[in-house]
Amino acid sequence: MRSLVLVLLNVGRLLGLVLLILGFLFWSHHSYSLVPVHMGLGVGFVVLLWIMAFLGMRARVKPGLVVVAFLWGVLVIGFGMTMGTMLPGRAHEAIRVLHFLIGLAAIALLESLGARIKRSPAMVR
Ligand code: HEM
Repeated sequence: MRSLVLVLLNVGRLLGLVLLILGFLFWSHHSYSLVPVHMGLGVGFVVLLWIMAFLGMRARVKPGLVVVAFLWGVLVIGFGMTMGTMLPGRAHEAIRVLHFLIGLAAIALLESLGARIKRSPAMVR
């Protein structure tokens, strides 16, 4: 299980980095044709977060963290899919910042779960 956690963590870091780079390109009005790629990778990242949350449940990390990770994944996808229609005009910047912060928190959750699973005494090989 330890090696699976390491693989998930590293793939998640890579995906998170690519998502942020693509996101900042969109923010600076570039590469809009890559939005569907960003969305697909974003969903992939969330699936990875859910797998990590499941492993966290098995490794008996704090149940609160596991539940938050599952629900946060739903929020990341739900918000990402619908943000285009929220607050049109200048106020849309606030939605963009919110989406960025929600994404950053998802990356932090993956890290936190991974670190706790690695430290967990209940972790099996
Ligand atoms: C860890 C996950 C994610 C991170 C770190 C992330 C990051 C970003 C950033 C920094 C931006 C540019 C600023 C903004 O418009 O908010 C962006 C834009 C966007 N993201 Fe994400 N994102 C993530 C997941 C998702 C998911 C799961 C979806 C949809 C299923 C999604 C859909 C979009 C869309 C539609 C845009 C707007 C492009 C535009 O019209 O400017 N993102 N993302």
